[in-house]
Amino acid sequence: MGLHVIILAAGQGTRMHSDIPKVLHPVAGKPLLFHVLNTITTLTPDQIYIVHGHGGKQLQQTFADYPTPITWVHQKQQLGTGDAVKQVLPHLQTDDTALILLGDMPLIAAECLRRLLQQITQATDIGVLTANVTDPSGLGRIVRDKTCQHIHAIIEDKEIADTHINDLTPAEIRAICEINTGVLALPVAVLQQYLPKIRDDNNKGEYYITDVITLAAQAKHTIHPIVCEHAWQALGVNTRIQLAQVERHYQHAQALALMQQGVTIIDPKRIDIRGTLHAGRDVTIDVNTVFEGDVQLGDGCYIAPNVIIRDSQLADKVHVQAHSVIEGARIGAHSQIGPFARLRPGSQLAEHVHIGNFVELKNTTIAAHSKACHLTYLGDATIGAYTNIGAGTITCNYDGINKFQTNIGDHVFIGSNTLLRAPVSIGNHATTGAGAVIRHDVNDYQLSITWQEQRFKDDWKRK
Ligand code: UD1
Ligand code: CA
Repeated sequence: MGLHVIILAAGQGTRMHSDIPKVLHPVAGKPLLFHVLNTITTLTPDQIYIVHGHGGKQLQQTFADYPTPITWVHQKQQLGTGDAVKQVLPHLQTDDTALILLGDMPLIAAECLRRLLQQITQATDIGVLTANVTDPSGLGRIVRDKTCQHIHAIIEDKEIADTHINDLTPAEIRAICEINTGVLALPVAVLQQYLPKIRDDNNKGEYYITDVITLAAQAKHTIHPIVCEHAWQALGVNTRIQLAQVERHYQHAQALALMQQGVTIIDPKRIDIRGTLHAGRDVTIDVNTVFEGDVQLGDGCYIAPNVIIRDSQLADKVHVQAHSVIEGARIGAHSQIGPFARLRPGSQLAEHVHIGNFVELKNTTIAAHSKACHLTYLGDATIGAYTNIGAGTITCNYDGINKFQTNIGDHVFIGSNTLLRAPVSIGNHATTGAGAVIRHDVNDYQLSITWQEQRFKDDWKRK
């Protein structure tokens, strides 16, 4: 008995008002569908099918490198969720189990799915993941049987007005707060038996997969409702408003997990992690911080407000001051960055390095205890230990065609407003004077200055 997962993703997502297929809209920087796939793969299914229609090419391109194989099934016309599942039927074997999900529910937890699958112990069992919500409007209502143990029917929102069931009036059905999340687990045999029987003579003119459940219940199958512990995990995205709500739930869950591991987050509502954040002990993260890709923070790091860090590793006790942007960098222990610093890819700093305000680094290595505290651009450079880079220093690394390297030794003093025209090397213990334009190498212990005499005109009248 194999586990076959079917993800429905052919819908247009009309209410998104978008040219992008709905399931490609991002939550935490990754498509909705990516989150669903990641959760599914933890169940190690035998096969994953994605039913696509609108923007199918774009979907397949996006997931071309996905590590788990995906079988793409095309639904020509979007005739409803029941019709979507019908397209997968020829791929399935009678004794397999099908797990059906919607591609627009990125927060669904593997634990819920496991509990649902545990319901399928015999060929007649069916599991429906339900949730209790405060506002069920627009969603399929769960009508339980007289014992309240099992499901009697699922009534789609659009059909409520015409439905009298189990002695319930339409108003009573409308008031039911237990809803169908859209996740079903059932034997393929049940799909084979009832999918051909569902009809589209309803208010939406669609084939509803939920009618399979209602038909099966009438035929005395046992329909087990599994209630999703946290209703927000079952949230589906139909609108941009729901997209934002799902994003906040996702971010809040990540912030809680980090706090449980011992990270201080000043305001868990004002942190965004779009990737993975590993943090050591006693890390403090202030408000409005964004972490993207893979970020590692060592013990005792402090991240000030309005900082963006992408794909970088910070060793222990690094302090990043406000408004700094760090990308593709490695920063040694006890270093200080910012405020208003920009570290671009290839920035590698050893311990106790100080990068101050309005300093930009690119492809630059700096050894321990060196400083560039103000208004500086260092690109394609290597800088030794205990070196001071004066305010306004610029490595002129680009001649319009090629990039050139600047090498600066240990214990160097670069005077304010020095221009270093690359390629150029500055020896250990060398000094450059303020305003110097360095075109030629400077040797160890040399001073290099490019002075213009300061001149005076007495009694000068401004025009
Ligand atoms: C569906 C359920 C409803 C449930 C709700 C939860 C049905 C009939 N209704 O309603 O009980 O409460 O989800 O969010 O199943 N899709 C296709 N092909 C189609 C139509 C839809 O692949 O022809 C896909 C869509 O891309 C989407 C998913 O199926 O990912 C759900 O479709 P949607 O139209 O959003 O269903 P709901 O009306 O939300
Ligand atoms: Ca939906």
